[in-house]
Amino acid sequence: MMLFFSFYGSFNLSGQVPMTARPVQPAPDIIIPTGTSSFDLIFRVNGRDGRLYQAYLGKKLFDPNEVSQSRDAGHPAYATFGTDNLFEPAIRMTHNDGNPSLELKYVSHQEEKPDNNITLTKIKLKDPEYPVEVTLNIRSFRNENVIEEWAEIVHNEKKPVTVFNYASSMLHFDAGRYWLTHFHGDWAEEMKMAETELTAGIKILDSKLGSRAHMYQTPVFMISLNEKSDENTGELIAGTLAWSGNFRILFEVDEKGSLRVISGINPFASEYSLIPGQTFITPSMIFTYSGNGRGEASRNLHRWALKYGILHGDKPRYTLLNNWETTYFAFDQNKLSGLIDDTRKMGLDLFLLDDGWFGNKYPRNNDRAGLGDWQENRAKLPDGIGYLVKEAGNKEVKFGIWIEPEMVNPASELYENHPDWILKLPNRPEHYYRNQLVLDLTNPKVQDFVYNVVDELLTKYPGIAYFKWDCNRMMTNTYSPYLKDKQSHVYIDYVRGLYSVLERLRKKYPDIPMMLCSGGGGRVDYGALKYFTEFWASDNTDPLERIYIQWGYSYFFPAISVCNHVTSMGKQSLKFRTDVAMMGKLGYDIRVNEMTPEELKFSQEAVANYNRLKDIIWHGDIYRLVSPYDENRAVLMYVNEKKDKAVLFAYTLNARKGETFNRVRLQGLDPAKAYRIQEINIMPGVRRTGTESGRSYSGEYLMNIGLNIGSTAPLTSQVYEIIVQN
Ligand code: DGJ
Repeated sequence: MMLFFSFYGSFNLSGQVPMTARPVQPAPDIIIPTGTSSFDLIFRVNGRDGRLYQAYLGKKLFDPNEVSQSRDAGHPAYATFGTDNLFEPAIRMTHNDGNPSLELKYVSHQEEKPDNNITLTKIKLKDPEYPVEVTLNIRSFRNENVIEEWAEIVHNEKKPVTVFNYASSMLHFDAGRYWLTHFHGDWAEEMKMAETELTAGIKILDSKLGSRAHMYQTPVFMISLNEKSDENTGELIAGTLAWSGNFRILFEVDEKGSLRVISGINPFASEYSLIPGQTFITPSMIFTYSGNGRGEASRNLHRWALKYGILHGDKPRYTLLNNWETTYFAFDQNKLSGLIDDTRKMGLDLFLLDDGWFGNKYPRNNDRAGLGDWQENRAKLPDGIGYLVKEAGNKEVKFGIWIEPEMVNPASELYENHPDWILKLPNRPEHYYRNQLVLDLTNPKVQDFVYNVVDELLTKYPGIAYFKWDCNRMMTNTYSPYLKDKQSHVYIDYVRGLYSVLERLRKKYPDIPMMLCSGGGGRVDYGALKYFTEFWASDNTDPLERIYIQWGYSYFFPAISVCNHVTSMGKQSLKFRTDVAMMGKLGYDIRVNEMTPEELKFSQEAVANYNRLKDIIWHGDIYRLVSPYDENRAVLMYVNEKKDKAVLFAYTLNARKGETFNRVRLQGLDPAKAYRIQEINIMPGVRRTGTESGRSYSGEYLMNIGLNIGSTAPLTSQVYEIIVQN
């Protein structure tokens, strides 16, 4: 169904649609409600000035039209620059005649309802003096309580215009105080959570890395209104930008204490020359509102992601054995054949061959050579990838392979043959990061090359069942030979080039699972996750560090998408490492042949346990019960939709002498049901540490009195399976 509205009333779309509307008399205000089952985002067109305002964002109202009673129309829905706005704009442009101002007035809006869950509201705005149109798109997901917002900018001037700012969304809040939670870090230190109060002025979270969204700052945030929120209480917005390049999320508190949050592509060094008729489509800003704390916000985002945000969120994933941390570049086909045996022995689904399998003139025996030359290295793999695919097939496991198709080492045939395909300044020394350079994905020929890396592998070896797509550097000394005098387009067009390759690949190969990786977790965003089934969270696999890293991701990304591998990093027991990796998408990157018989048995049982529980972890609801940021332990659980199965993970990080831990109240269960608690993942010959195992309790007991879980011994862990008794 599609409904169309303007100052002149509502139309059915088969009729004539007025493109501009200039009421002679002050027109009545128009209320445009958007929102979900639990919150409203309401826009209001002020009949007196014809502008669009955000009238309300918050808990669901009985009657959205009531906002029209306020004399104050609200805050500018998409503030422009050059007329009367004195704060940060959502959009700024210079017209073809050099005029630096933009005015946007409401023209019309329409609603599309592709199904009962989704409503897309499109609000068209136009400059009365120039043929410039901006359409704000608000797609609301009713049941998941998520809104996706983006803008489309188009003009019909005689010559190109320059757009300097092009936000995806502009949201306003009027609360007494604002608490910003954000996530920052570095390579191997991803997702460190920090909280700060926003006071008058501007705070910016952004990145200028070009080929990835984050590494130092992550494009995610929570804003708690009036007071700090916790897992179960408080009013907040949790949001993230679906863009794999430079982003900027700007928070500005004005002189009246109102907050505006402007999210989008980072406009830094990125003014865009827009030709007449070309539409500039911004990425989506995705956000949810919760009046009941952060847990609900995360569950909203997870449910949305499983259905709409991540490729095949509703489908299963492969458990796998990866060879990166066990071999690095030092392997040959015999060694890999042994690892394929190990994959089978462990009960895992797939063997993933990592970096180092390619390059002949410049063999990839370390990270200084070979990147770009995607032919099997004949010394390591004399019988090619085909042999490994066959080996895997014979052993009834699947085969996956690592690629990094956007990059090149100077020591490569690709570099020798196509110097003009590389982003680098013509008159300055090359600047390397991990000894490599970035290919110029703004160039359609380079896009074809990247596409062909995957297409040729899959055409030659259709048995390849999985890809890990890496991206190990950001952009520096950036200059695109292809863009010539449009260098300020490079950051935007690079990401668009990448998406166009991924779009083409997904048309031809809709099903093949792919892990999104970027030198650890440098590229984790819903812009890329449309094309990927999962992501590599960090190169730091020390499980103590991982608890914090995985905790951070869990606010915005569901467990099914977070790849966690059991490795030899860290001094903790194999049990601890396994229990930590299990709280997401489990994999291994460990020398199976060096395990003791007990460790092997433990691991095989753990994989079997995981196979039994993975659907709860992947598709269930998360409840973070005790935060490692608050205590010397971390406890979280997942509950399935029917509330008849749950799994609880408890990790003791450290404990001071004499420190005791309180009981933990569970969440998300059915109070009227009886549940049996069973501790799993026990090392053969080792006594259970949990005292609650084997007991049965009602959901009411578990949620009000709670369990005595975890020990005070540092770096220990328990996993409990919680199942309804018939
Ligand atoms: C960085 C990734 O994060 C690692 O997992 C591994 O694939 C290496 N690159 C390989 O070069």
